[in-house]
Amino acid sequence: MLDTERFVDIKRLASEVTSDIRHELALAVLEGLSKLPKGLPSRLFYDDKGSELFEQIMELEEYYPTRCEAEILSQQGLKITDYLVGSQQFNLVELGCGNGAKTILLLNAFIEAKKKFSYVPLDISSTAVEFIITNFKKEYGEIPFSIQGLVAEYFQGIKWLNQNIQAKNFVLFLGSNIGNFNKSIALRFLRQLWYSLNEGDFILIGFDLKKDLDVLYDAYNDSKGITKEFNFNVLARINEMLGGDFDRKQFQHQGLYNVQTGAMESYLISQNRQVVTLKELDKQFKFKPWEAIHMEYSYKYLRDDISDLAGGTGFEIVENFTDSKGYFIDSLWRAKK
Ligand code: TRP
Repeated sequence: MLDTERFVDIKRLASEVTSDIRHELALAVLEGLSKLPKGLPSRLFYDDKGSELFEQIMELEEYYPTRCEAEILSQQGLKITDYLVGSQQFNLVELGCGNGAKTILLLNAFIEAKKKFSYVPLDISSTAVEFIITNFKKEYGEIPFSIQGLVAEYFQGIKWLNQNIQAKNFVLFLGSNIGNFNKSIALRFLRQLWYSLNEGDFILIGFDLKKDLDVLYDAYNDSKGITKEFNFNVLARINEMLGGDFDRKQFQHQGLYNVQTGAMESYLISQNRQVVTLKELDKQFKFKPWEAIHMEYSYKYLRDDISDLAGGTGFEIVENFTDSKGYFIDSLWRAKK
């Protein structure tokens, strides 16, 4: 019997954490719009509507990262599985599970290579974990591996796994998740990940590479305006949940490449001098003409940056897998202890 129904919700047990979405949103918005320069945390993008818009972004012709990574996983998945020698059961832990479309490509390689594993989608959102399990049931009918959904903060979840299911870990951190972190946060995150892993555990991380600026620009300023909607959805969400009166016509969206930091940066820019009121917070926020709200960083990498990051956090690079255009790398690392 396959054990696909087990589900541990650590977050719900520790119910003090983010139980009140509105409260969390209020704190983030209060902090983000009070500071100078103004900026909102990128996690605010992903409510239901935002997640749906992001799905649409991933299908855009101009948004290359998803297709490049899908090419890597489907064409080189078997090569990736080759590094897992032996027949020992392992945990395939996915940090921040999306819709699973790309993960399935890799899972299929593991199945084809007859590897024994338990798939562990690990996310702070129970909806995300439930969603991926439902998706897999649809995709596979009977799922040919066990699933252990885990609702927790990343490191808390890995610690729980180490204590409860002793097996080698193969951690997936796909997409351009790591790109949201600046260099020092990426270093801290990966070092913390290293601490929670054991000698010989693997991690596969997605890195979007530096490339022609026009390609980058178009990916973050698409012609259908979905990325723009994705950004404005954050303002709509604030209006709805915090009684705000953001008028989107008074703002302009722009994705820019910062040549000094090597990141694509998204902004919503106030076109006029204006005051925005958030009734629920009993607060007003003043905007100068052309003042920006920073929305998102997406850092782009060189191969050298990837080596520095691995070397600096206790990992060795096993192999860098890239797509035919050389736009993206899924880098396979091994924890050295
Ligand atoms: N963080 C992802 C990326 O950098 C998602 C994303 C795509 C995004 N386009 C965006 C985030 C525009 C904010 C704004 O690719």
